[in-house]
Amino acid sequence: MPNLPAPVTPPDRILMGPGPSDIAPRVLAAMAAPTVGHLDPYFLQVMNETQQMLRQVFRTENQLTMSVSGTGSAGMEACVVNLVEPGDRVVVCINGVFGGRMADVAARCGAEVTTIERPFGEVFTPEEVADVCKRVSPKVLGIVHAETSTGALQPLEDISRIVHDAGALLLVDCVTSLGGCPIEIDKWEIDAAYSGTQKCLSCPPGLAPVTFSERAVAAIDERTTKVASWYLDITMVRNYWSDSSRAYHHTAPINMNYGLHEALRIVLEEGLDARHARHRRNHLALRAGLEAMGVEYAVAEEQRLPMLNAVRIPEGVDDKAVRSQLLSDYGIEIGGGLGPLAGKTWRIGLMGEASTPRNVLLFLAALDACLKAQGHETSPGAGVAAANANYQIV
Ligand SMILES: Cc1ncc(COP(=O)(O)O)c(C=O)c1O
Repeated sequence: MPNLPAPVTPPDRILMGPGPSDIAPRVLAAMAAPTVGHLDPYFLQVMNETQQMLRQVFRTENQLTMSVSGTGSAGMEACVVNLVEPGDRVVVCINGVFGGRMADVAARCGAEVTTIERPFGEVFTPEEVADVCKRVSPKVLGIVHAETSTGALQPLEDISRIVHDAGALLLVDCVTSLGGCPIEIDKWEIDAAYSGTQKCLSCPPGLAPVTFSERAVAAIDERTTKVASWYLDITMVRNYWSDSSRAYHHTAPINMNYGLHEALRIVLEEGLDARHARHRRNHLALRAGLEAMGVEYAVAEEQRLPMLNAVRIPEGVDDKAVRSQLLSDYGIEIGGGLGPLAGKTWRIGLMGEASTPRNVLLFLAALDACLKAQGHETSPGAGVAAANANYQIV
């Protein structure tokens, strides 16, 4: 008998960090279904249905809507590498880690990248975007809708108008917003958007939903150079997703697609508006609880993400000790700060399946105990009581 490692037996966790979030049991069950071939008529039906459901969740009629194999970063790369040719002028708005990543990706595609920056936790004004568009006259402007690294929500409607008036394409990162708060691809005239499966869709990491407007497709069709990535070349991948061609490009991750199919069914069964309202209700209850415990948000009230609560670590409290205790004693995972916010903030996710009153109340009770262990005085039970009271009024 060879000396084998034990089978995988993951610990019981409640995923309340910046992602992945808790996975719906129905999604896991769907992923355990038998694998079929990537050109099997059954799988082609799953692909068609997934595209239709993605259009509903993105709120778009865009024909070119599908999932890219890979995590959210693959979605980012797919959008950038297909829209951008060497020498193109691209503006990227950076107010967190993921804007920075987008600028890096664009530079690797040979773009002439101009960045505008806001401190982590703040968002861009339409005037700032107008100013850079006037100065640079870009082909593409990229911006993050929900900055998971900071907890800030970027309003997009005015920015979209400005970007189009400047003749540019608007590229939006919706990795964390899709399925958790409104994102309107058609109404806001977003030209290209990408997301990830592991946040508010509550499916494991592994696929990146993307959508491209007709304007974006025209820009891709007008390219004079080959797309710099073979794997993410939408001009080839789209032939696999199109009913009329179905040309093999790469072997689709079949069971991940089963998972996304079920995750989208769950989102649409709940209804987008109801789902957004649930995320907001649990966010407000958590907020009431945290405030009652004297824990402050790191983002201005009107710009807070409902699915990712970034809060300041109270003075004198050990960041890592609290996160370790939450994990070891209560099975709760939350995130630490990223970049300049490392050691200064916690990121408490209430995404998809994890956005529940049970998790809000359990987390507040657990945090109470962890803060006490740190010698930080809070009035015992105040957080849970305030959250409970909030659930009565909202
Ligand atoms: C806003 C945002 N963009 C992009 C990404 C990258 O996604 P992934 O880590 O799935 O590659 C993340 C992941 O946390 C994200 O939150």
